[in-house]
Amino acid sequence: MAVTARQVQLVAHPEGEVRPSHFRIVEVTLPELAEGEVLVRNLFTSVDPALRLQLRRSGPEGYFNSFRLNAPMDGIMSVGEVIESRDRRFAPGDAVSHGWGWRDFAVVPAGVVSVGGVGTLAKIDTSLGPPEMFLGPLGNMGLTAYVGLVVGAELRDGDIVWVSAAAGAVGSIAAQIAKLMGHRVIGSAGSADKVRYLIDELGLDAAFDYHDGSIVDHLREAAPDGIDVYFDSVGGDHLQAALATLRRWGRVAMCGAISEYESTEPQPGPTNLFQAVANNLTLRGFRASSHLDRLGESSHVLGDWLAQGRLRYQQTIIDGLEHAPEALGRMLAGDTVGKTLVRVDTPGA
Ligand SMILES: NC(=O)c1ccc[n+]([C@@H]2O[C@H](COP(=O)([O-])OP(=O)(O)OC[C@H]3O[C@@H](n4cnc5c(N)ncnc54)[C@H](OP(=O)(O)O)[C@@H]3O)[C@@H](O)[C@H]2O)c1
Repeated sequence: MAVTARQVQLVAHPEGEVRPSHFRIVEVTLPELAEGEVLVRNLFTSVDPALRLQLRRSGPEGYFNSFRLNAPMDGIMSVGEVIESRDRRFAPGDAVSHGWGWRDFAVVPAGVVSVGGVGTLAKIDTSLGPPEMFLGPLGNMGLTAYVGLVVGAELRDGDIVWVSAAAGAVGSIAAQIAKLMGHRVIGSAGSADKVRYLIDELGLDAAFDYHDGSIVDHLREAAPDGIDVYFDSVGGDHLQAALATLRRWGRVAMCGAISEYESTEPQPGPTNLFQAVANNLTLRGFRASSHLDRLGESSHVLGDWLAQGRLRYQQTIIDGLEHAPEALGRMLAGDTVGKTLVRVDTPGA
């Protein structure tokens, strides 16, 4: 079956801010499926901060590869429906997740590892939730929040937890997991509306806008005796503030460093790293894809909480594949809440 597909391609590496002009939309005729390949019609495609690192000419050492210019952007999570299959494990009508996003139709080689395994073609169980939730709490976002707290931070009874970027995809789940596990949770985000969302909708104990005065002062006000865990999605000034307020045996789960992703120059590290020595702190980086063995567990735990109405889930959906670059710019600028997704419109769907 000859299929004409649309895909987003990178035409220039952005220096600083991401703009739609760094991308183009290309129409291609997909080749006939080879043995082991599956044709998927994408329904939703993901917008992740990590893409900003892959848009660089060369990304951070040891991380995902940079996207090639004028080529499909492989390694972006997507969910969709199998249209045609030449792999016996998949059949037309199957709901699947995979890493061949930012295009409407994808030829996916079954069994080929993508996004560290998170994006390898897999069936999704839509009785647990709609497909797009597998780009959120039932998928990699949920796994990131869950292992970040349980493995990265070794969450312990009585811990006071600070979650940054707490109104975002990972942060909103991490903050709620910590809350549901019985902790005092402080959230930070970039606007008054988001702060209200953290308190009123997610039920956090305290929240602040990091633009509004000193981060350390906010943390001291919310936790006068200090914090025990910092779930770090931001790096930079946030990590510096955490080091200043973590108490003895505190832990940092280093999830990401979004404050650095658009910088054109290397960013300085915290000037108070000695606090790690002074207070027996542990700073542990983690990648969710290194904990795929816990995906079943995290989807199960979070799926139950979602079904019971105890876990809130918010997404910002931008319609139209051609708006994916704009969606990325909006998410990086803090102009979205919860998981940022693009709904893919496909002809004849
Ligand atoms: N380790 C892993 O396996 C893994 C997996 C997935 C994601 N991550 C990381 O987790 C973090 C969150 O990812 P996500 O998908 O959940 O994104 P997200 O939180 O939904 O979106 C990113 C948010 O970060 C905030 N932000 C942007 N620039 C900032 C700055 N300079 N200072 C403070 N906040 C800033 C913005 O919200 P505000 O309005 O609040 O500023 C923005 O909306 C990222 O660092 C990402 O790289 C790690």
